Amino acid sequence: MSDALPIIEPFRIKSIEPILVSTREERARHLAEAHGNLFKLHSADVMIDLLTDSGTGAMSAEQWAAVMRGDESYAGSPSFLRFESAVQEVYGFENVIPTHQGRAAEHLLFRTLVRPGHVVPNNTHFDTTRANVEAAGGVALDLPCKESEVTSSDFPFKGNMDVDALRRVLAEKAGSVPLVMMTITNNAGGGQPVSLDNLRAVHALCAAHSVPLFIDACRFAENAWLMRARDPALAGSSIPELVRAVFDLSEGCTMSAKKDGLANIGGFVAVRDPELAAELRRRLVVTEGFPTYGGMSGRDLDAVAQGLYEVLHEDYLEYRAASVRYVVQRLDASEIPVLRPAGGHAIFLDAARFLPHIPVRRYPGQALAMELYLEGGIRSCEIGSVMLAHHDETTGEEIPARHELVRLAIPRRTYTQSHMDYVIEIVRRVWKRRDAIAGVEITAAPPVLRHFQAEFGRVGR
Ligand code: F0G
Repeated sequence: MSDALPIIEPFRIKSIEPILVSTREERARHLAEAHGNLFKLHSADVMIDLLTDSGTGAMSAEQWAAVMRGDESYAGSPSFLRFESAVQEVYGFENVIPTHQGRAAEHLLFRTLVRPGHVVPNNTHFDTTRANVEAAGGVALDLPCKESEVTSSDFPFKGNMDVDALRRVLAEKAGSVPLVMMTITNNAGGGQPVSLDNLRAVHALCAAHSVPLFIDACRFAENAWLMRARDPALAGSSIPELVRAVFDLSEGCTMSAKKDGLANIGGFVAVRDPELAAELRRRLVVTEGFPTYGGMSGRDLDAVAQGLYEVLHEDYLEYRAASVRYVVQRLDASEIPVLRPAGGHAIFLDAARFLPHIPVRRYPGQALAMELYLEGGIRSCEIGSVMLAHHDETTGEEIPARHELVRLAIPRRTYTQSHMDYVIEIVRRVWKRRDAIAGVEITAAPPVLRHFQAEFGRVGR
């Protein structure tokens, strides 16, 4: 390894945004003003913003050129035709319905297919996906594979669905499962990839029960890259071939172009069935816009059309995966508990093992996220019991999440390797003084999606 070349970004920088370097005292003040909630910080007060990889990436020169080509006609814009043919070519779906972002695509699809009492299985629902299934009256059922339970093991496809569990659900709930969804990569499960074999097994079960399979496609290119890197049987396939092999197993997908669309806004739902497409378009006109722009401007449609091709470039995907792996390997070498193996878009710290003295009801993930900000101005995101706990319907008791994770999501093409070195050093410093870190309590919270608005207070050691 010692004579391996360093990782280089396969691009150079044409336009920069300054980062304001702050002091610890300033950050302590900002955090107090935000009531401990990192969503409430002003982004100018953040040095390295790893809150999300969604809509936070840098666009290429070709995408900015495409923005200038954007045509803002209300109906029949050539920007839509370019967008439509990019989606058709990359994913292979005939019917393309543009939306302003991923959750609008989910809203349209679930409102159309899900009725009260229905059950929707998914390897792991993202929070907006769950919220949209539930808003349509359905039950959102997570069926992650058993291998994903242990954060320290190196199983290559921890994003997989538990196929035996799906088999049972499809048998027991016959007639009540309107669709099965697979999220690639599995974001809430650690940005871990789903294998082609797992998708094939899920597809076979769906076909046997005549239940359509849909894909939550947000990070489809990262999934294809990791799929090939970890499955020797796929070594000879190109990324576009693998992408098609995945989507050929499905009836349609929802997509947030803010991730692997390499754009700052946008999304779509794409389907094979023309009748379903017609119904989706009827709803689209009411809530998003005319079918040739949905919730997007012409220039955004063009930026996404270009982004969907760029995201498939081997050099880009190799660098992206290497950069995330680099951080995971170095933290791991310092014995810092980090989700293994490295995922596609983010580094996940295991806060339950990082801060074992803090009980789950004192939210170790939130405590750790607050410390990373105080130590080095890094904004991360708790993906643990603040975000994902639910309440027992009879006792009202809070049932913790499966894991207490802190996600460091890497915006696409935005930060350099030296920023990654800085992140590693800040995490190491917090690790060294971990024993002195106290837990937190929630002092105020709304009833749904509470992590966005909750306020936190420290609970002393
Ligand atoms: N599905 C997955 C797997 C996601 O990660 C997201 C968004 C969505 C759907 C919704 O897409 O934001 O365009 O409406 N994830 C972001 C994140 C917000 O930070 O992981 P959206």
